[in-house]
Amino acid sequence: MKRLISFFTLAGITLAFSGIAAAKTCELSISGNDQMQYNKSELKVSGDCDKVKLTLQHSGSMDVGQMGHNWVLSKTADFEAVARDGQQTGRGSDYVPRNDDRVLAHTELIGGGDSTSVTFDTAKLESGGDYTFFCSFPGHFVSMQGKLIVA
Ligand code: CO
Repeated sequence: MKRLISFFTLAGITLAFSGIAAAKTCELSISGNDQMQYNKSELKVSGDCDKVKLTLQHSGSMDVGQMGHNWVLSKTADFEAVARDGQQTGRGSDYVPRNDDRVLAHTELIGGGDSTSVTFDTAKLESGGDYTFFCSFPGHFVSMQGKLIVA
């Protein structure tokens, strides 16, 4: 009986460890500049990522109120509407609609020299789905947008 208990204890520990090892966080990075541009038009997430940590860096020097950048993710079908609604929400909410299911992930709004990151679950992303990331600062989504490819 004692032997049986130790076997199950060991099996439990092994399962717990493999559970931790299986949770994979993949890191992505992108930067925005004072010319209202991201440095990438495409980001890729591989299918075995459980979470994504996206880091946004503002490589420019302009103030957040003049050239603020963030990184907002939505389905491509939703993105223009989310960008328009975001502009309406104003600076206080970083131009991101709050409690809005169309927003799949977003960073805070930053100015020149700053960086920020967001970690989100990939469970809400479908393999092969059509996703667009963009900056929701008023007017920026026109030039600051790209595709998130989920393998
Ligand atoms: Co911007």
